[in-house]
Amino acid sequence: MIDSMDEKWFKKEIQQVFNKGVRVIYEDALKMIYEDASLIKAIKESDFVPPEITGSFLKGLTKPISEKQEKEKQSNGYEVTKNYDDWEPATSESFIQYFVSRYQKISSLLWKRQSLKSAISIVNVNRARGDRERTAVIGMVKGIRDLKSGKKIVEIEDPTGLLSVLLPPISGYDEIVPDEVLGVVGRSGRDIIFAEEIIFPDVPISNSWPDTGESWAMFSSDLHIGSKKFNKEHFSRFVKWLNKEKKVKYLFLAGDLVDGIGMYKGQQSELDFDSIEEEYDALADLLSELREDLIIFAGPGNHDASRDSEPQPPVPKAFAKKLYDLKNVVMVSSPAWIRVEGILVLMYHGTSLDGFIDSIDSIKSIGYNRPTEALKIMIKKRHLAPLFGRGRTFPDQNDFLVIDPIPNIFHTGHIHYAEIGNYRGIRLISSGTFQEKTEFQEKLGHNPTPGLMVLTDLKTGKSELIDFSKQDVLSQSLEN
Ligand SMILES: [Fe+2]
Repeated sequence: MIDSMDEKWFKKEIQQVFNKGVRVIYEDALKMIYEDASLIKAIKESDFVPPEITGSFLKGLTKPISEKQEKEKQSNGYEVTKNYDDWEPATSESFIQYFVSRYQKISSLLWKRQSLKSAISIVNVNRARGDRERTAVIGMVKGIRDLKSGKKIVEIEDPTGLLSVLLPPISGYDEIVPDEVLGVVGRSGRDIIFAEEIIFPDVPISNSWPDTGESWAMFSSDLHIGSKKFNKEHFSRFVKWLNKEKKVKYLFLAGDLVDGIGMYKGQQSELDFDSIEEEYDALADLLSELREDLIIFAGPGNHDASRDSEPQPPVPKAFAKKLYDLKNVVMVSSPAWIRVEGILVLMYHGTSLDGFIDSIDSIKSIGYNRPTEALKIMIKKRHLAPLFGRGRTFPDQNDFLVIDPIPNIFHTGHIHYAEIGNYRGIRLISSGTFQEKTEFQEKLGHNPTPGLMVLTDLKTGKSELIDFSKQDVLSQSLEN
């Protein structure tokens, strides 16, 4: 509790909090701060401070770091900086809280943009009643309507109201999807804004590569162990190659570690095992063939024994005991932020990519052969699953799927197509698969790249594709 002696100090500290870009501290939050002054320090040291500080934000700040995260923080060479392993059960109010959190997190990124610094609340635009003044607002997309003229009407909302935005027919605006948060600059009319510019939260134009990397990292996903289509030959070459290339110190596995059980009708006839535990045991046996000094990060995908909705917590120990027993395997969530040698990797399975690719005209026909194009648009929106209704997103109190902090490497799987890209200095990696083309993929016209994996030099950020479907891969060496 603050006593009267400390009032002056308290006011000064609160002013410093406002200097971090905070606009409002709600009464419940202020009461908490007044009772526990250490919260001011926690706010000042937090990587993320929303423009509006609520009591629930402060509760999140004071949550103890889990034992597991603490252990990981102490280990040398890597750090799992953001891992989703703690959540509250969903209630009827969770959906509102989730969207408020999404709005707060992304709008705080948008407020930093020069042209949105003077953004006003939607209620104030509606009060202006058509004076054609230049106006900036930040809102969440509620709906999109195409007009015959080629223009669009986008409905946006913020905590104060709802507003229609008339968009000119500009190609990049086809990428706008429901539930994303964006900025609008234009002229205000009667209950409408005539947009001149749409501002996506995006990332700075140039993101430099840290000069701290020394070794190499291999990026893979979609092993689908247990599937009869898992290619043992490709995987055996992969193990042999990694065991001889000791400069590769990290292996990232972005989900679909196993094929799962009961994923679709008739799957049992396409499986080598009767239970998911046996599939994880088989995976542990295969990974135990890799040298012990290779650190392996393993996250879940939609085929794994994690919950269906995203974010997905790590695969539970109950299903994968043998995997947890391997000392060099670190089980993480999807998404997870992992720092190795000063390089920040955002590893995400990519389950939301199906709905995302299908909803955006510019990538609809190419997305499964150019997955990194979809990753670029996700970064622009600073969200891993912008379309709430198209995926299975869990309504957390804090939206864990916001892309923050900005990674150096953005690694996804799910598409089964290996590709390397770059967006404003962020290295994009869509990793390949060890599963041969399935009948389902054949029907959809997808062209997976089994055996093709991505290798990255952490010193330079340069990536290359290594093809383990080829026998002569074993004669390739990093020394050459
Ligand atoms: Fe997969």
